[in-house]
Amino acid sequence: MRRRAALVLIAATWLAEAAGAQGLAPEQRRSGFESMGSATQAMQRDDDANPGMLSVRDGEARWGRPEGPAARACADCHGDARLSMRGAAARHPRWDEALGRAVGLSQRIALCRARHQQVPGGAPEGVERLSLSAWVAHASRGLPVRPDPDLRLDAVRERGRRLFERRMGQLDLSCADCHDARWGRRLGGSTIPQGHANGYPLYRLEWQALGSLQRRLRNCMNGVRAQPWPADAPEWVELEAFLQARGEGLPVEAPAVRP
Ligand code: HEC
Ligand code: HEC
Repeated sequence: MRRRAALVLIAATWLAEAAGAQGLAPEQRRSGFESMGSATQAMQRDDDANPGMLSVRDGEARWGRPEGPAARACADCHGDARLSMRGAAARHPRWDEALGRAVGLSQRIALCRARHQQVPGGAPEGVERLSLSAWVAHASRGLPVRPDPDLRLDAVRERGRRLFERRMGQLDLSCADCHDARWGRRLGGSTIPQGHANGYPLYRLEWQALGSLQRRLRNCMNGVRAQPWPADAPEWVELEAFLQARGEGLPVEAPAVRP
Protein backbone atom coordinates (compact mmCIF):
# COMPACT_ATOMS: atom_id res chain seq x y z
CA MET A 1 0.00 0.00 0.00
CA ARG A 2 2.80 2.42 0.90
CA ARG A 3 4.41 1.71 -2.43
CA ARG A 4 1.17 2.62 -4.25
CA ALA A 5 0.77 5.88 -2.38
CA ALA A 6 4.38 6.74 -3.21
CA LEU A 7 3.69 6.04 -6.87
CA VAL A 8 0.71 8.37 -7.02
CA LEU A 9 2.64 11.12 -5.26
CA ILE A 10 5.65 10.79 -7.53
CA ALA A 11 3.49 10.66 -10.64
CA ALA A 12 1.78 13.88 -9.60
CA THR A 13 5.18 15.59 -9.20
CA TRP A 14 6.38 14.30 -12.55
CA LEU A 15 3.35 15.52 -14.41
CA ALA A 16 4.12 18.99 -13.14
CA GLU A 17 7.63 18.76 -14.62
CA ALA A 18 8.29 19.55 -18.25
CA ALA A 19 7.75 16.53 -20.49
CA GLY A 20 11.14 15.06 -21.25
CA ALA A 21 10.72 11.90 -23.33
CA GLN A 22 13.58 12.06 -25.78
CA GLY A 23 14.32 8.41 -26.54
CA LEU A 24 17.48 6.47 -25.77
CA ALA A 25 20.74 6.93 -27.66
CA PRO A 26 22.42 3.58 -28.49
CA GLU A 27 25.44 4.39 -26.30
CA GLN A 28 23.09 4.96 -23.31
CA ARG A 29 21.55 1.48 -23.50
CA ARG A 30 21.75 -0.46 -20.21
CA SER A 31 20.24 -3.82 -19.43
CA GLY A 32 18.04 -4.02 -16.33
CA PHE A 33 20.77 -6.34 -15.03
CA GLU A 34 22.99 -3.33 -14.36
CA SER A 35 20.62 -1.64 -11.91
CA MET A 36 20.13 -4.77 -9.77
CA GLY A 37 21.82 -5.45 -6.45
CA SER A 38 24.92 -7.63 -6.53
CA ALA A 39 23.16 -10.61 -4.87
CA THR A 40 20.49 -10.70 -7.62
CA GLN A 41 23.17 -10.33 -10.29
CA ALA A 42 25.08 -13.25 -8.80
CA MET A 43 21.89 -15.34 -8.77
CA GLN A 44 21.35 -14.68 -12.50
CA ARG A 45 24.97 -15.47 -13.38
CA ASP A 46 25.15 -18.78 -11.55
CA ASP A 47 23.11 -21.50 -13.29
CA ASP A 48 22.94 -23.50 -10.06
CA ALA A 49 21.38 -20.53 -8.22
CA ASN A 50 19.23 -19.11 -11.06
CA PRO A 51 15.68 -20.46 -10.46
CA GLY A 52 14.86 -19.83 -14.15
CA MET A 53 17.14 -22.73 -15.06
CA LEU A 54 14.53 -25.17 -13.69
CA SER A 55 12.20 -24.02 -16.47
CA VAL A 56 15.00 -24.33 -19.03
CA ARG A 57 15.51 -27.95 -17.98
CA ASP A 58 11.75 -28.58 -18.08
CA GLY A 59 11.64 -27.04 -21.58
CA GLU A 60 14.52 -29.26 -22.69
CA ALA A 61 12.54 -32.34 -21.61
CA ARG A 62 9.40 -31.10 -23.38
CA TRP A 63 11.42 -30.39 -26.55
CA GLY A 64 12.15 -34.09 -26.91
CA ARG A 65 8.70 -35.38 -25.83
CA PRO A 66 6.35 -36.68 -28.59
CA GLU A 67 2.95 -34.94 -28.51
CA GLY A 68 -0.35 -35.00 -30.38
CA PRO A 69 -1.96 -37.58 -32.68
CA ALA A 70 1.19 -37.98 -34.81
CA ALA A 71 3.39 -38.30 -31.69
CA ARG A 72 5.78 -35.66 -32.95
CA ALA A 73 8.39 -33.88 -30.83
CA CYS A 74 9.83 -30.42 -31.49
CA ALA A 75 13.17 -32.21 -31.84
CA ASP A 76 11.85 -34.40 -34.69
CA CYS A 77 11.66 -31.32 -36.91
CA HIS A 78 14.20 -28.98 -35.34
CA GLY A 79 16.92 -31.30 -34.07
CA ASP A 80 19.25 -30.02 -31.35
CA ALA A 81 17.80 -26.72 -30.11
CA ARG A 82 21.22 -25.53 -28.96
CA LEU A 83 22.15 -25.30 -32.64
CA SER A 84 18.89 -24.91 -34.58
CA MET A 85 17.41 -22.32 -32.18
CA ARG A 86 20.55 -20.27 -31.64
CA GLY A 87 19.56 -16.70 -32.57
CA ALA A 88 15.78 -17.31 -32.64
CA ALA A 89 15.13 -15.24 -29.49
CA ALA A 90 17.48 -12.49 -30.67
CA ARG A 91 15.48 -11.90 -33.87
CA HIS A 92 11.86 -12.33 -32.76
CA PRO A 93 9.18 -10.98 -33.28
CA ARG A 94 9.08 -12.15 -36.91
CA TRP A 95 6.48 -12.09 -39.65
CA ASP A 96 4.24 -15.14 -39.96
CA GLU A 97 3.23 -15.68 -43.59
CA ALA A 98 0.09 -17.69 -42.89
CA LEU A 99 -1.30 -15.27 -40.31
CA GLY A 100 -0.09 -12.20 -42.19
CA ARG A 101 1.14 -10.59 -38.97
CA ALA A 102 4.06 -10.46 -36.57
CA VAL A 103 4.47 -13.03 -33.79
CA GLY A 104 6.76 -13.12 -30.77
CA LEU A 105 8.83 -16.17 -29.81
CA SER A 106 6.27 -17.51 -27.34
CA GLN A 107 3.47 -17.18 -29.91
CA ARG A 108 5.65 -18.85 -32.53
CA ILE A 109 6.02 -21.82 -30.18
CA ALA A 110 2.23 -21.90 -29.66
CA LEU A 111 1.79 -21.90 -33.47
CA CYS A 112 4.19 -24.82 -33.89
CA ARG A 113 2.30 -26.76 -31.25
CA ALA A 114 -1.05 -26.09 -32.93
CA ARG A 115 0.10 -26.49 -36.55
CA HIS A 116 2.68 -29.22 -36.33
CA GLN A 117 1.68 -31.22 -33.27
CA GLN A 118 -2.11 -30.61 -33.37
CA VAL A 119 -2.25 -29.82 -29.65
CA PRO A 120 -3.56 -26.60 -28.05
CA GLY A 121 -0.99 -23.79 -28.34
CA GLY A 122 -1.46 -22.83 -24.71
CA ALA A 123 -1.71 -19.55 -22.78
CA PRO A 124 1.25 -17.14 -22.46
CA GLU A 125 1.70 -18.05 -18.77
CA GLY A 126 1.00 -21.75 -19.30
CA VAL A 127 3.85 -24.07 -18.36
CA GLU A 128 4.30 -25.38 -21.95
CA ARG A 129 4.91 -21.98 -23.48
CA LEU A 130 6.97 -20.67 -20.57
CA SER A 131 9.26 -23.69 -20.33
CA LEU A 132 9.70 -24.10 -24.09
CA SER A 133 10.34 -20.34 -24.45
CA ALA A 134 12.93 -20.51 -21.68
CA TRP A 135 14.68 -23.46 -23.39
CA VAL A 136 14.58 -21.89 -26.87
CA ALA A 137 15.61 -18.43 -25.62
CA HIS A 138 18.44 -19.94 -23.58
CA ALA A 139 20.00 -21.09 -26.87
CA SER A 140 20.53 -17.39 -27.73
CA ARG A 141 22.07 -16.42 -24.40
CA GLY A 142 24.85 -13.90 -24.89
CA LEU A 143 23.96 -13.11 -28.50
CA PRO A 144 23.14 -9.47 -29.24
CA VAL A 145 19.47 -8.59 -29.78
CA ARG A 146 19.08 -8.21 -33.57
CA PRO A 147 15.67 -7.11 -34.80
CA ASP A 148 14.57 -8.90 -37.96
CA PRO A 149 15.25 -6.62 -40.97
CA ASP A 150 11.97 -7.73 -42.66
CA LEU A 151 10.42 -4.46 -43.87
CA ARG A 152 6.92 -5.67 -43.03
CA LEU A 153 7.91 -5.34 -39.37
CA ASP A 154 8.63 -1.62 -39.67
CA ALA A 155 4.96 -0.68 -39.36
CA VAL A 156 4.62 -3.04 -36.38
CA ARG A 157 7.59 -1.42 -34.62
CA GLU A 158 6.17 2.02 -35.40
CA ARG A 159 2.83 1.12 -33.83
CA GLY A 160 4.78 -0.17 -30.83
CA ARG A 161 6.67 3.11 -30.57
CA ARG A 162 3.40 5.03 -30.54
CA LEU A 163 2.04 2.80 -27.78
CA PHE A 164 5.26 3.33 -25.82
CA GLU A 165 4.87 7.09 -26.03
CA ARG A 166 1.12 7.21 -25.40
CA ARG A 167 0.01 8.31 -21.95
CA MET A 168 -2.23 5.77 -20.27
CA GLY A 169 -4.19 4.94 -17.14
CA GLN A 170 -5.42 7.04 -14.26
CA LEU A 171 -1.86 8.26 -13.63
CA ASP A 172 -1.68 9.44 -17.25
CA LEU A 173 1.94 8.34 -17.73
CA SER A 174 3.51 6.75 -20.82
CA CYS A 175 6.11 3.99 -20.84
CA ALA A 176 8.53 6.64 -22.12
CA ASP A 177 7.79 8.95 -19.16
CA CYS A 178 9.39 6.33 -16.92
CA HIS A 179 11.78 4.34 -19.10
CA ASP A 180 13.20 7.06 -21.39
CA ALA A 181 12.94 10.16 -19.24
CA ARG A 182 13.45 8.79 -15.72
CA TRP A 183 15.48 5.61 -15.83
CA GLY A 184 17.97 5.36 -12.99
CA ARG A 185 15.66 7.25 -10.61
CA ARG A 186 13.98 5.61 -7.62
CA LEU A 187 10.29 4.82 -7.57
CA GLY A 188 8.60 3.31 -4.50
CA GLY A 189 11.63 1.28 -3.48
CA SER A 190 12.81 0.16 -6.97
CA THR A 191 15.19 1.69 -9.46
CA ILE A 192 13.45 2.46 -12.75
CA PRO A 193 15.27 0.41 -15.40
CA GLN A 194 15.32 1.37 -19.08
CA GLY A 195 12.69 -1.29 -19.64
CA HIS A 196 14.41 -3.68 -22.05
CA ALA A 197 13.06 -7.05 -23.14
CA ASN A 198 16.39 -8.92 -23.43
CA GLY A 199 15.87 -11.25 -20.45
CA TYR A 200 12.50 -12.91 -21.16
CA PRO A 201 11.08 -15.21 -20.10
CA LEU A 202 12.63 -14.41 -16.72
CA TYR A 203 12.39 -15.28 -13.06
CA ARG A 204 11.04 -12.41 -11.02
CA LEU A 205 11.63 -12.58 -7.27
CA GLU A 206 8.39 -10.68 -6.64
CA TRP A 207 6.45 -13.33 -8.60
CA GLN A 208 8.42 -16.26 -7.16
CA ALA A 209 8.02 -17.66 -10.67
CA LEU A 210 9.15 -17.49 -14.26
CA GLY A 211 7.00 -15.10 -16.30
CA SER A 212 6.60 -13.76 -19.81
CA LEU A 213 7.20 -10.28 -21.18
CA GLN A 214 3.42 -9.88 -21.42
CA ARG A 215 3.16 -10.46 -17.67
CA ARG A 216 5.88 -7.89 -16.95
CA LEU A 217 4.22 -5.28 -19.15
CA ARG A 218 0.85 -6.00 -17.54
CA ASN A 219 2.48 -5.20 -14.18
CA CYS A 220 3.65 -1.83 -15.51
CA MET A 221 0.21 -1.04 -16.92
CA ASN A 222 -1.46 -1.99 -13.63
CA GLY A 223 1.04 0.33 -11.93
CA VAL A 224 -0.37 3.35 -13.78
CA ARG A 225 -3.94 1.95 -13.42
CA ALA A 226 -4.28 1.27 -17.14
CA GLN A 227 -6.37 -1.64 -18.43
CA PRO A 228 -4.02 -4.26 -19.95
CA TRP A 229 -4.98 -5.83 -23.29
CA PRO A 230 -6.17 -9.46 -23.49
CA ALA A 231 -3.57 -12.26 -23.72
CA ASP A 232 -1.77 -12.34 -27.09
CA ALA A 233 -3.48 -9.14 -28.34
CA PRO A 234 -1.60 -7.52 -31.25
CA GLU A 235 -0.56 -4.61 -29.01
CA TRP A 236 1.79 -6.90 -27.02
CA VAL A 237 3.65 -7.92 -30.16
CA GLU A 238 3.83 -4.30 -31.32
CA LEU A 239 5.38 -3.24 -28.01
CA GLU A 240 7.69 -6.27 -28.03
CA ALA A 241 8.87 -5.47 -31.59
CA PHE A 242 9.55 -1.86 -30.61
CA LEU A 243 11.36 -2.91 -27.42
CA GLN A 244 13.59 -5.28 -29.42
CA ALA A 245 14.60 -2.45 -31.77
CA ARG A 246 15.08 -0.07 -28.84
CA GLY A 247 17.35 -2.61 -27.12
CA GLU A 248 19.27 -3.69 -30.23
CA GLY A 249 22.75 -4.93 -29.35
CA LEU A 250 22.05 -5.79 -25.70
CA PRO A 251 22.89 -9.42 -24.89
CA VAL A 252 20.07 -11.96 -24.60
CA GLU A 253 20.03 -12.89 -20.88
CA ALA A 254 17.21 -15.44 -20.81
CA PRO A 255 16.38 -16.67 -18.30
CA ALA A 256 17.28 -13.46 -16.46
CA VAL A 257 16.48 -12.80 -12.79
CA ARG A 258 14.81 -9.54 -11.73
CA PRO A 259 13.67 -8.16 -8.35
C1 HEC B 1 6.38 -30.94 -38.19
C2 HEC B 1 7.54 -30.12 -37.98
C3 HEC B 1 7.58 -29.16 -36.79
C4 HEC B 1 7.38 -29.47 -35.46
C5 HEC B 1 6.94 -30.77 -34.82
C6 HEC B 1 7.69 -28.25 -34.75
N1 HEC B 1 8.03 -27.25 -35.60
FE1 HEC B 1 8.73 -25.42 -35.10
N2 HEC B 1 8.83 -24.89 -37.06
C7 HEC B 1 8.49 -25.71 -38.11
C8 HEC B 1 8.48 -24.92 -39.34
C9 HEC B 1 8.12 -25.43 -40.73
C10 HEC B 1 8.86 -23.59 -38.97
C11 HEC B 1 8.94 -22.38 -39.89
C12 HEC B 1 7.73 -21.47 -39.62
C13 HEC B 1 6.39 -22.13 -39.88
O1 HEC B 1 6.14 -22.54 -41.00
O2 HEC B 1 5.55 -22.23 -38.95
C14 HEC B 1 9.10 -23.63 -37.56
C15 HEC B 1 9.56 -22.55 -36.81
C16 HEC B 1 9.83 -22.57 -35.46
C17 HEC B 1 10.46 -21.49 -34.71
C18 HEC B 1 11.00 -20.19 -35.28
C19 HEC B 1 12.49 -20.37 -35.54
C20 HEC B 1 13.19 -19.11 -36.05
O3 HEC B 1 14.41 -19.15 -36.08
O4 HEC B 1 12.51 -18.15 -36.40
C21 HEC B 1 10.50 -21.89 -33.40
C22 HEC B 1 11.04 -21.09 -32.23
C23 HEC B 1 9.90 -23.20 -33.33
N3 HEC B 1 9.53 -23.59 -34.60
C24 HEC B 1 9.73 -23.92 -32.16
C25 HEC B 1 9.10 -25.18 -32.10
C26 HEC B 1 8.79 -25.85 -30.86
C27 HEC B 1 9.12 -25.33 -29.47
C28 HEC B 1 8.19 -27.02 -31.19
C29 HEC B 1 7.60 -28.07 -30.28
C30 HEC B 1 6.56 -27.58 -29.37
C31 HEC B 1 8.13 -27.08 -32.65
N4 HEC B 1 8.68 -25.94 -33.15
C32 HEC B 1 7.60 -28.12 -33.36
C33 HEC B 1 8.22 -27.05 -38.03
C34 HEC B 1 7.97 -27.76 -36.87
C1 HEC C 1 5.46 4.74 -13.39
C2 HEC C 1 6.65 4.34 -14.10
C3 HEC C 1 6.51 3.21 -15.12
C4 HEC C 1 5.71 3.17 -16.24
C5 HEC C 1 4.70 4.22 -16.71
C6 HEC C 1 6.04 1.94 -16.93
N1 HEC C 1 7.00 1.26 -16.23
FE1 HEC C 1 7.96 -0.39 -16.85
N2 HEC C 1 8.95 -0.51 -15.06
C7 HEC C 1 8.89 0.42 -14.06
C8 HEC C 1 9.66 -0.04 -12.93
C9 HEC C 1 9.85 0.71 -11.60
C10 HEC C 1 10.21 -1.29 -13.28
C11 HEC C 1 11.09 -2.21 -12.42
C12 HEC C 1 10.22 -2.84 -11.37
C13 HEC C 1 10.98 -3.60 -10.32
O1 HEC C 1 12.08 -4.08 -10.59
O2 HEC C 1 10.44 -3.71 -9.22
C14 HEC C 1 9.75 -1.55 -14.66
C15 HEC C 1 10.10 -2.66 -15.42
C16 HEC C 1 9.86 -2.79 -16.78
C17 HEC C 1 10.43 -3.80 -17.62
C18 HEC C 1 11.38 -4.93 -17.18
C19 HEC C 1 12.80 -4.63 -17.55
C20 HEC C 1 13.73 -5.77 -17.27
O3 HEC C 1 14.94 -5.51 -17.15
O4 HEC C 1 13.30 -6.92 -17.18
C21 HEC C 1 9.95 -3.60 -18.89
C22 HEC C 1 10.26 -4.42 -20.14
C23 HEC C 1 9.07 -2.45 -18.83
N3 HEC C 1 9.04 -1.98 -17.53
C24 HEC C 1 8.37 -1.92 -19.90
C25 HEC C 1 7.34 -0.98 -19.78
C26 HEC C 1 6.41 -0.63 -20.83
C27 HEC C 1 6.41 -1.20 -22.24
C28 HEC C 1 5.57 0.32 -20.31
C29 HEC C 1 4.34 0.94 -20.97
C30 HEC C 1 3.29 0.02 -21.32
C31 HEC C 1 6.00 0.58 -18.95
N4 HEC C 1 7.06 -0.25 -18.65
C32 HEC C 1 5.45 1.53 -18.11
C33 HEC C 1 8.22 1.63 -14.13
C34 HEC C 1 7.31 1.99 -15.12
